Amino acid sequence: MITQKAGKGDHLSLVSTRLAQDPDMNAEERYLLRNAGASIYGGGIESVSSSLSTFLLLISRYPEIQRQAQEQIDFVLGDSALPTLADRSRLPLVDAILKECLRMIPPAPLSGARVSNKDDVYEGYRLPKGSVVYINLYRIFHNPKLYKHPEVFNPLRFIDNPESEPDPFKLVFGFGKRICPGQCLSENTLFVVLAMCLAVLEMKCPKEDEQEGLPECTTGAFTQAGEFRCQFRCRNSKRKELIDELLGKGESEVKRMNERKNESIIKDKHDVLK
Ligand code: HEM
Repeated sequence: MITQKAGKGDHLSLVSTRLAQDPDMNAEERYLLRNAGASIYGGGIESVSSSLSTFLLLISRYPEIQRQAQEQIDFVLGDSALPTLADRSRLPLVDAILKECLRMIPPAPLSGARVSNKDDVYEGYRLPKGSVVYINLYRIFHNPKLYKHPEVFNPLRFIDNPESEPDPFKLVFGFGKRICPGQCLSENTLFVVLAMCLAVLEMKCPKEDEQEGLPECTTGAFTQAGEFRCQFRCRNSKRKELIDELLGKGESEVKRMNERKNESIIKDKHDVLK
C-alpha cells in the first residue's frame, strides 16, 4: 500500500517519502526500511500509551500524591506558566511519579528476549546454548526485597531515600546493546505530559469506584492498566486560559504543517510528472 502511495506521490510518511526518493531500492532495503518504520511505531505507541493510562489510573487513586505534585509545580512555576522540559530538574516529584508508574506497570514487562550463545547454569538451572531468556521486569519491580511495599504507589520512595531502591529508569527500558532507543524521547515526553496534566487538571476517581481495588493489568508482551474511569476538571480559570492558549497554538501549528504537507505533495507530484 505504501509503495503504491509512494508511486502516486502521496508522501505521507517517512517510509513512503524514502521509497519515492529511491524507487529502485532492492528487496532487502525495502524490508529494512519497512521494519525501521514499524519498529518506531510499534515500539513507541503501546509503551507510551500504557505509561499514560497507568499515570491516570494511579494519580486519580492517590489524591494526596497528586496534591503534593501540584503544590511543587505551583511553587516552582506559579500559575501563569506551564511546565516545560527545562523544568525537569526542578520538579523531582513529577519525575518520581513517572518512575513509580513505570515500576507499578512496566509497559514491556518481560523486556526484550535474548538467546544464550553458550551453555550456562543459572541458580542450578541448566540453560543450553540457544535458550530463549526473558528478563522478568514485572517480578523485579514487585519484589519486596528490592522495593518496600511494592504494591503501594509511593513515588516518594525515590525522593526520601533515592539510593535504597533500584531506579526504574535504569531497568524498564531494557539492557545492553539492544536497550530501548526511545528511552530519552520517552522520559522527556512523558515528563512533559505528566507535568502538564498535573499543572492544569484535577484527576479524580469517580465516587462510585472509590472502594474498588486497582484493575488487573492486561497480559502480553506489552501491558497496560485494565479498564478504569477517571474524571477531569480544570484546576482554575487561569490554567484554563493557559490550555486554551496552548490549544490555539497547537491548532495553528497543525494547520501550518498540513499546508506545508499539501505544498510538498503538490511539489512531489510535479517532480513525478516531469
Ligand atoms: C515508556 C516508554 C517505553 C518503554 C518502557 C520501552 C521499553 C522497551 C524495552 C524494555 C525494550 C527491549 C530492550 C531490550 O531488549 O533490552 C524496548 C525496545 C525498543 N524500543 Fe522501547 N520503550 C519505550 C518507548 C519507546 C519509544 C518512544 C520508541 C520509539 C520512538 C521505542 C522504540 C523501541 C525499539 C525500536 C526497540 C527495539 C530495540 C532493539 O531491539 O534493538 N520505545 N523498549
